[in-house]
Amino acid sequence: MPLLSSTPSTFWTGPFGDGTHLYRPAPDVVLQQKYPFVLPTLGYETNALMPALNAATVEAHYRSVHASHVQALNTALTAHPTLHEYSLGQLLMGLRRWPEAARAPIREHGSAHANHALSWKVLAPGAATATAPNGRLGSMITRDFETVDACKAALREAALGIEGNGWAWLVKTATNRLAVRTLPNDDSPLLDGELPVLGIDVWEHAYRRMYQTQRAGYVDAVLARINWDVVGAQVE
Ligand SMILES: [Fe+2]
Repeated sequence: MPLLSSTPSTFWTGPFGDGTHLYRPAPDVVLQQKYPFVLPTLGYETNALMPALNAATVEAHYRSVHASHVQALNTALTAHPTLHEYSLGQLLMGLRRWPEAARAPIREHGSAHANHALSWKVLAPGAATATAPNGRLGSMITRDFETVDACKAALREAALGIEGNGWAWLVKTATNRLAVRTLPNDDSPLLDGELPVLGIDVWEHAYRRMYQTQRAGYVDAVLARINWDVVGAQVE
């Protein structure tokens, strides 16, 4: 079922009007959540990402940072019952349409909820080995980056180049191409009408407990731990 099937086709204009990719089913169920939003299960133990990320790092990031954004989003939207019928994906894609008082918390906490949910999902836990991109994602990477290594290198360079807090993103653009973006703070690519495919959180809270200031070590460890099958589902 299309994500926006119950929404009049004229509802989305501007960059969304011809963005057919936004009408595709949302592969991430978190984007289909409506108020009250809930913290999704991690799907693995907090120590299952060793040696890339230790339990203390995952525990604090998931149970404190991610959970607090979910709670803050719910608190903010309590005062906006007219928005309760919209999914998280719709709230982010249509940000400028909502009451002004709701925009900042949706942008901050709604983005952070969506971003973190995706970031947990795309990491391979336990003994699972990171797979190689295949299917549609593999074809798109070949078309837009030539090789997987080039795609990873572009993501790595973007992640290391971010000043301050932000995320490096692999996105699907409105023209159905893959591209690397850097976005500040927790801004979701959905705010710009682009579909998040893979995100790397470079806030210090994501890595400082293990890597101190060595962001490169963290980024390399994460990129080596990606479950490309899950990432691929984002573009199917
Ligand atoms: Fe984070």
